[in-house]
Amino acid sequence: MEYRTLGNTDIDVSVICLGTMTWGQQNTRDEAFAQMDYALAQGVNFFDSAELYSIPPKAETYGNTETIIGEWLKARGNRDQIILASKIAGPGEDWIPHIRGGKTQFNKTNIDKAINDSLKRLQTNYIDLYQLHWPERKTNFFGRLGYTATEDHFTTVIETLESLQEHIEAGKIRHIGLSNETLWGMMSFLKAAYELNLPRIVSVQNPYNLLNRTYEVGLAEISWREQCGLLAYSPLGFGVLSGKYLNNQQPAGARISLWPDYTRYSNPQATSATEKYVALAREHDHDPAQMALAFVNTRPFLTSTIIGATNMEQLKANIKSIELMLSDEVLDEIEAIHQLIPNPSP
Ligand SMILES: NC(=O)c1ccc[n+]([C@@H]2O[C@H](COP(=O)([O-])OP(=O)(O)OC[C@H]3O[C@@H](n4cnc5c(N)ncnc54)[C@H](OP(=O)(O)O)[C@@H]3O)[C@@H](O)[C@H]2O)c1
Repeated sequence: MEYRTLGNTDIDVSVICLGTMTWGQQNTRDEAFAQMDYALAQGVNFFDSAELYSIPPKAETYGNTETIIGEWLKARGNRDQIILASKIAGPGEDWIPHIRGGKTQFNKTNIDKAINDSLKRLQTNYIDLYQLHWPERKTNFFGRLGYTATEDHFTTVIETLESLQEHIEAGKIRHIGLSNETLWGMMSFLKAAYELNLPRIVSVQNPYNLLNRTYEVGLAEISWREQCGLLAYSPLGFGVLSGKYLNNQQPAGARISLWPDYTRYSNPQATSATEKYVALAREHDHDPAQMALAFVNTRPFLTSTIIGATNMEQLKANIKSIELMLSDEVLDEIEAIHQLIPNPSP
């Protein structure tokens, strides 16, 4: 395994981070335990969760994933070997009314409750990295394009940072990060921390994969210059980049077969780009999923690639991607496909 430093902290995290959001819905507790055991044995010391999980978010499964991780930590007695990340949900009255009425602004009341509840489910005294899952303000995330200027009222960055600071001082969280953020968000948090001596964000967790490299446009520079690296989520575009949905296949039990509404990576341009990436991988005797992950793993602005797996075979292949070094020829061809069909799934 390879390790990189998390932001400006003294924590080294594995470049492969174990995503967890299928546990408690698509994966059972036993399967999750097997994934955690295997990943840890391979040197993966970084797990990413959220109060929201498992997905798709539902009242009945809310908090399931954290509960499973908590049970595993208790059973194995190895809390000190894991760098544990979790997240507070942002607002979503229309789709997550079960989480504090969907009015989950990042104010003190919600932050206090979310952290205390996560700690209970996780059966731990501290979370290493606590992230704001998506912005409270109205802006572009979850694939939204175009910008509509609206008057909206949101908790100030300063108030949010002050609330988080209390929990850092109490030892309940060690560091903070953002997720699904824009340039304005990242720089606002960094600036407030700098000017007012408030906690500094150490990472940003955004989508990044061969079908969506929009992070490179502006955010990558911030990651690099501000020591605030990317934690790349959906590195396989929900599994699409493995090629298993090509030619209209609907593999049994796979995410998009189960939930066809997850269309972010399945539009015609994304399918054309996927065909090209998969053909390129096969031409060079690479597993398409491993090639897609290896590309993400080796980006200089990246701290970790958050992989997801629903079975041990996928998990093994995805962790092993850390050993794959792509040749200049493959990288050039990836670039050529990207030029031809840039960011079909922003
Ligand atoms: N911050 C956020 O808003 C956000 C959003 C999404 C994810 N995340 C984090 O990132 C993690 C990973 O995200 P993701 O699950 O969307 O990642 P992904 O790598 O794009 O998709 C993972 C899924 O692809 C399929 N798959 C994985 N490896 C495969 C392989 N080798 N061959 C074929 N299919 C394979 C599996 O689903 P099937 O078996 O069902 O096909 C697996 O669950 C999550 O667990 C979560 O921790 C965060």
